[in-house]
Amino acid sequence: MGSQKRAAVVTGGAQGIGRRTAELLAERGFRIAIVDLLEPKATVQAIETRGGIAFGFAGDVTREDVVEEFARKVFGRYQRVDVLVNNAGISLIRAAEDTTPSEYRRVLEVNLVGPFLLARAFGRMMLEARRGSIINVASIAGLVAVADRAAYNTSKHGLVGLTRTLAAEWGGRGVRVNAVCPGWVKTEMDAADQAAGSYTDPDITQRVPMGRFAKPEDVARAIAFLADDEESGFVNGHTLTVDGGWSSDGSWESVRLSKR
Ligand SMILES: NC(=O)c1ccc[n+]([C@@H]2O[C@H](COP(=O)([O-])OP(=O)(O)OC[C@H]3O[C@@H](n4cnc5c(N)ncnc54)[C@H](O)[C@@H]3O)[C@@H](O)[C@H]2O)c1
Repeated sequence: MGSQKRAAVVTGGAQGIGRRTAELLAERGFRIAIVDLLEPKATVQAIETRGGIAFGFAGDVTREDVVEEFARKVFGRYQRVDVLVNNAGISLIRAAEDTTPSEYRRVLEVNLVGPFLLARAFGRMMLEARRGSIINVASIAGLVAVADRAAYNTSKHGLVGLTRTLAAEWGGRGVRVNAVCPGWVKTEMDAADQAAGSYTDPDITQRVPMGRFAKPEDVARAIAFLADDEESGFVNGHTLTVDGGWSSDGSWESVRLSKR
């Protein structure tokens, strides 16, 4: 088993942060398996064009049967899984009083139940092998509250809680579990949220000490660090912010902008 090439699973890898993460892990020598609602053909092709190994699976991470079938396929093909990146997620920008129970439930299903199902399916394989690294893509909305995001904030706070719990339970058996907490990232999710009129580029760039959005690359590199046993072998239960300093900055706007 140890002689084979390492394998990594990435959820939501058809676009955005997940796509760049899958590509970067392939560049670092991992064989890649992607599950996404959308057929992740473009990501698989991009990896194969550069000589990497990848396969895609179209499915909904909230469905237990889909996750179990995907896990069987991955294990059948690669016989091992070293890394799981729980990245698939959805956004919901809505005043709390206008959020319907079904909207609230769907966000929790995708952002919180999905990662649990994946961690359960692939964690079992990792525990048996007594090694593995799971990275949950949370958000700064998992650490602080951003208004109009009751369901999203709650799901990401829960994901940080799941991260810490699994780190406590599984660390002693060689499986590390960490989270990354990105600030605002330029992806299709951001484009859709901005198209709905909820914020503009300057709202974000003026709030971030480093004065810009994150790129998918910034987040992918933090994930790759946590994926790598040599780089981060004693890091477990950590939430790594990739937010240009957003969540550390208590300055008011005129002070912040005077430092540019
Ligand atoms: N973009 C940001 O500003 C930002 C900031 C912080 C955290 N995040 C988090 O990063 C992750 C990726 O975000 P992104 O910006 O790349 O989003 P995105 O919308 O561009 O990509 C998300 C991917 O997940 C897939 N997906 C959604 N629901 C799914 C489901 N039920 N089953 C399988 N696949 C599903 C989508 O098809 C899509 O390919 C999400 O968890 C998001 O909450 C994003």
